[in-house]
Amino acid sequence: MNDDLRGQYENYPYPPRDPADEAARLITGSPSHISEIEHHITGGIRNTDVPRRILIAGGGTGDATVMLAAQHGAAGIDAEIIHLDISEASSAIAKARIDARGLTNTTFVHGAIETIAERALGTFDYIDCCGVLHHLKDPVAGLKALREALKPMGGLGMMVYAPLGRTGVYHAQAMLQMITGDAPDPERISAARQLLGELPDSNWLKRNPHVGDHIDQGDSGIYDLLLHRRDRAYSVPELAGLIQQGGMRPVNFVDPARYEPSVYLSSAELVKRTSGLNWVQRCAFAELLAGNMKTHILYAVRDDNRTNTLAIPDTADTIPVMRDGDGPALGAQIKLGMSLKVDMEGVKLSLPLPALAAPILLLIDGKRSLAQIHAGLKSTQKPAPGWDTFKGQFDQLFSSFYGLSRMFLTKPS
Ligand SMILES: C[S@@+](CC[C@H](N)C(=O)[O-])C[C@H]1O[C@@H](n2cnc3c(N)ncnc32)[C@H](O)[C@@H]1O
Repeated sequence: MNDDLRGQYENYPYPPRDPADEAARLITGSPSHISEIEHHITGGIRNTDVPRRILIAGGGTGDATVMLAAQHGAAGIDAEIIHLDISEASSAIAKARIDARGLTNTTFVHGAIETIAERALGTFDYIDCCGVLHHLKDPVAGLKALREALKPMGGLGMMVYAPLGRTGVYHAQAMLQMITGDAPDPERISAARQLLGELPDSNWLKRNPHVGDHIDQGDSGIYDLLLHRRDRAYSVPELAGLIQQGGMRPVNFVDPARYEPSVYLSSAELVKRTSGLNWVQRCAFAELLAGNMKTHILYAVRDDNRTNTLAIPDTADTIPVMRDGDGPALGAQIKLGMSLKVDMEGVKLSLPLPALAAPILLLIDGKRSLAQIHAGLKSTQKPAPGWDTFKGQFDQLFSSFYGLSRMFLTKPS
């Protein structure tokens, strides 16, 4: 079923990775950062009594596998991680990266997502499927297979391509298909390089600053972006349809702020109009408005899981966690009146920060609860804020940092 794609990923493992680089850095990202999973899927609860079972479906050269194995190891959480892929060459690179780190919690299985049920792998608390479903012959069937492999309260973190940020990619794919068809791969790559060198300034790929794999990822990058045999992109409404047909329910996009129209708009009239849309419509509106999304990263749960995993009660015992553990460092930089400014692939966003942003951030270490942070403010703030004032300030801080996937909430287990 997947022979046409297997050849590509045996010869051009993607993304290209060198196991020797593990000594220098850990690649982290979304989906599947451990704090992001706990926030979106487990209601902020880190249950360390039962080992977590995690499947990386189409794990490729191992970015998510290595990140999850390393993060669970560092957090002292018992995890059983299975990396599944149709490409033995890609899995060999992923395994060499795991071995380079001396990690022992990962198993490698050679096979297709569509055959998970036949493999008796058991069920999983979490499944990562990043950059794979949009390459399957039948993405709905692939998603259903993943759903069946999830425990009832388990969750999925996925990434699929989005159309607008990939403007020009499909034009180049179509041109290369016309002129190289079924030619051998080295010939197709050579033709792609020639064409890239001759794109007129008006060409949409040349004008698109959001994609760069054909520039900086070598032959594998050119192949994956421009010569792929099967590749489609999903708009927000199309993705919502895929999720629903796959028997899943969306939890949230990453980064949440990018999917909120009001983040881009200053007209109160327009904000009011968009706030009347339902969540999927608002996300679809934001995609059309921003025009730069080249992927969608989404967390989802089974459609029979009715728990609102995002409704983490932010009571006094809730513990805020910075994704990169950089609360104190940020607290030292932020001055009164500053806002959180980010460049989201060409869109400059400015998210509000409350007056107490800096002193609160200085106390966010991933261990202190909101009650302890509030108590800690008494030694730096005169007069010390009451609980309601503090909570209002924290909520605004959280909204801005969570919008950029930089702060999450956890509950003591
Ligand atoms: C674009 S790469 C993404 C790799 C990895 N998930 C990442 O984000 O770095 C797609 C991967 O999916 C694998 N793949 C494609 N179709 C598959 C299938 N039906 N079952 C399992 N793996 C598949 C390919 O071999 C390749 O390693």
